[in-house]
Amino acid sequence: MVAIMAVSWAWLLGAVPLLCLAFWHAADAWYRAAFFLKHGGRGKKKSLPPGHMGLPFLGEMLSFIWYFRLARRPDDFIGAKKRAYGGDQVGMYRTHLFGSPTVVACTSAAAKFVFQAGGDTFGMQWPVPELVGLSSLVNVEGGSHARLRGVIIAAINRPSSLRSIAAVLQPRVVAALDSWADMGTIDASREMRKVTFTNICMMFISMEPSPLTAKIDQWFAGVVAGVRAIPLDLPGTAFRHARKCRRKLNGAFRDELEERRKKTTKSYDDLMSGFMDMEDEEGKKLSDDEVVDNIVNAIVAGYTSTATAIMWATYHLAKSPGTLSKLREENVAIRESKGGSSFITHDDIRKLKYTSKVVEETIRMANIAPMVHRVARRDVEYGGYTIPKGWQVLVFVRSLHIDPNYYQDPLTFNPGRWDEPAKPGTYHAFGGGYRTCPGNMLARLQLTIMLHHLSVGYEWALLNPNAEINYLPHPKPVDGASMSFHKLATK
Ligand code: HEM
Repeated sequence: MVAIMAVSWAWLLGAVPLLCLAFWHAADAWYRAAFFLKHGGRGKKKSLPPGHMGLPFLGEMLSFIWYFRLARRPDDFIGAKKRAYGGDQVGMYRTHLFGSPTVVACTSAAAKFVFQAGGDTFGMQWPVPELVGLSSLVNVEGGSHARLRGVIIAAINRPSSLRSIAAVLQPRVVAALDSWADMGTIDASREMRKVTFTNICMMFISMEPSPLTAKIDQWFAGVVAGVRAIPLDLPGTAFRHARKCRRKLNGAFRDELEERRKKTTKSYDDLMSGFMDMEDEEGKKLSDDEVVDNIVNAIVAGYTSTATAIMWATYHLAKSPGTLSKLREENVAIRESKGGSSFITHDDIRKLKYTSKVVEETIRMANIAPMVHRVARRDVEYGGYTIPKGWQVLVFVRSLHIDPNYYQDPLTFNPGRWDEPAKPGTYHAFGGGYRTCPGNMLARLQLTIMLHHLSVGYEWALLNPNAEINYLPHPKPVDGASMSFHKLATK
């Protein structure tokens, strides 16, 4: 009996680690075998980038969730990999993330390679395309992509359009700041979202705040939650709710299109009218579905990102009194040079050199998009390795922005570092290549306007300066950067 038990224990003790080992290597072996079957053979010396595919089906998602959500140490997620595969190594590694076999680019050289390749090499693959819209900018390639980008850039990213946007935004910004001072204490994250949404509604669809825009805001929250959820269309899931919200948004925006067609005498100077007027080479206009998809896409892309960046600006300034006082000095000086006029123009903004450094440093440190997604449209050779067709390619831009080789003391908020431009290929907060964010100048403009009015007229202090940071879905302090908020005594 004792002997049988001893043998069973020996089996168990030997078998369990072996099984665990086999389980751990199963997915990696599977992908390597599939690669060998396709690319192996006499004379062919192709291999996958170094790395490991993680657990079967899950890949390295548990590790991602652990570092980003639970341990709140997002930089450790990639740190060890970067040490192993960055430096003199290829700067890319294989893994399995977000349900796909993946190659992660983690150095500036590897990022440059991905960004400089065209869409026929590394295209775009949005995780749940239907929620943002199959015909939206992020989901199309080639000529349609270039034309839609052209409309967005003309409407919101050119100096001429930014000039009029600066004038439209400011009364709303000033009204919001005054209302915060009346409140005395604010949840900065929530308030920045409100004011950003109000501005977006004006710029993109010419809608003043109303019960309808409040509903649209809620439906957007539903869609965004669904984009990041597991795509299971079952009762109670975030994905089903997102699809419902998306249908409601379609209804609201289609009604708006109908209204505009009836009001033939009224002209609109906004993004929606840009899409309505757009024509292809044959003079064909966009369908209503295409207009709606692209408005939804623009709002999804430009709303939370901008609001989060503005929140981080107030957060860092609250912790950096020296920076705030230099910012204030520059902005008060420009206001005085204009005889105390309360609104600045786009031309004034160009003179705010220090403010632009605060903006850039905020965006670098916020790392609103930690990674940029692509998909290999064909087998791609890089550094002696092959990225197989169909694999997801992630450029981990966060890891560039916090790399001490590229930024001295990278976790310190230091606008002065922008006295010199970033080293080429090390700053990709707005992505890169043919998909670079077409709203980047609008985002910078909104931040600058907010910083101007905040610094000349208000003071604020974080209620919990040591609050922990959540990194998913977007980085923000757990208390939403709650702060006391008052008018400056001189105002
Ligand atoms: C601080 C604010 C913002 C950040 C950090 C940000 C970041 C990004 C990033 C990383 C991408 C992916 C680029 C790539 O794939 O290479 C992107 C794409 C995009 N962004 Fe932004 N963005 C911001 C604000 C805005 C605003 C205000 C708009 C206004 C409409 C906007 C519209 C878009 C669109 C439409 C795309 C898709 C571009 C394409 O696929 O061609 N973004 N953004």
